Amino acid sequence: MSIRTKEIPVGVVGLGLMGCSIATCLLMAGHPVIAIAPISIDMEHAEPRILKHLLKSREEGLVNEAPEYYLKNLIITEDYSLLKLCKLVIECTLESEEIKKSVYSKVELVIDDNAIMASNTSAIPISILQKLTTRPERFFGLHWAEPSHTTRFLEVICGELSDIEKGEYLYELSHLWGKEPTLVRKDIRGFIGNRLMYAMYREAFYLVENGYATVEDVDRACRNNTGYWMTLVGVFGWMDLTGVAAYHNVIKDLFPTLCNSTEMPKLIDDIVKAGGKGVSNGHGFYNYTPEEAKLWEETFADFSYEIRKLAMKYPADVVKKKLKEQEEEIKS
Ligand SMILES: NC(=O)c1ccc[n+]([C@@H]2O[C@H](COP(=O)([O-])OP(=O)(O)OC[C@H]3O[C@@H](n4cnc5c(N)ncnc54)[C@H](O)[C@@H]3O)[C@@H](O)[C@H]2O)c1
Repeated sequence: MSIRTKEIPVGVVGLGLMGCSIATCLLMAGHPVIAIAPISIDMEHAEPRILKHLLKSREEGLVNEAPEYYLKNLIITEDYSLLKLCKLVIECTLESEEIKKSVYSKVELVIDDNAIMASNTSAIPISILQKLTTRPERFFGLHWAEPSHTTRFLEVICGELSDIEKGEYLYELSHLWGKEPTLVRKDIRGFIGNRLMYAMYREAFYLVENGYATVEDVDRACRNNTGYWMTLVGVFGWMDLTGVAAYHNVIKDLFPTLCNSTEMPKLIDDIVKAGGKGVSNGHGFYNYTPEEAKLWEETFADFSYEIRKLAMKYPADVVKKKLKEQEEEIKS
């Protein structure tokens, strides 16, 4: 399929943390972007945030051009009618069905019948959201990971009424956004990435709450074991690489002992009830001075560019590519 991004105007509705990084990603991929500010504060914050992302992306070598080159393709506005020419509109507003529904009705009033709509919801099932629209078959989940302009992650999620062909088109298109996407053909709460992560969070809470290890020790084990190989191979590739039979053997005895609680873990409940938010207010599973919190945010941003370089060096088809290079070397 030959797709030219500059011929595909995309709307982004909601210009908070993620809306801005999604808009940046789309601009860097060559799309004209109509960015809608549903609340007036977005009009102040969006351009400086996008500009900052574009500057850093150039500095890190993700793009070659200066920000102005991309910004000329960006319109930031409160006027939904400018979405008229968009072929895709991505909603990125607060995680509230009520707010999202009111946005969909405004978007649907102006867009073309063939335009696709999508939501960046973290956890509301797409099968529920699509029923808030008049044409559910053209509605999908597009679940990004922050910062969206550096991460390779993207889930394209079909709700039960979505047209799978349009889903496949989004999947193809997202390769041009620098993604290594996952197509979720059948809607499931939490989609794929979050289901995997939350299974791990549940076990982490269980280990700490039952005194097997501290928060620090669980984090260290995760960073230096799981964290090392995940970017290269994922779950199944890792089992293949290290010997499937061993896993088959361990599953029998280990699975029955893993946590399967459906209760809210006390550890997180206590923190949230005491007002803890994590790095953003200095109180979470760890405590942070304002200086440490600021440095963590900067370190996270720097790391997202570093890990991207590694991920780009080792894409999912790294071995196929190496084989092709070897064949070409032999031929020449
Ligand atoms: N932050 C993440 O890491 C992350 C990851 C994946 C998905 N998401 C999802 O993306 C969406 C946006 O998250 P975010 O982190 O960008 O949030 P955010 O708080 O940074 O931004 C929220 C935006 O919602 C819009 N908004 C707020 N009140 C509104 C109203 N009354 N009516 C219409 N729009 C309103 C505004 O544009 C605001 O900037 C959510 O659905 C969230 O679950 C977030």
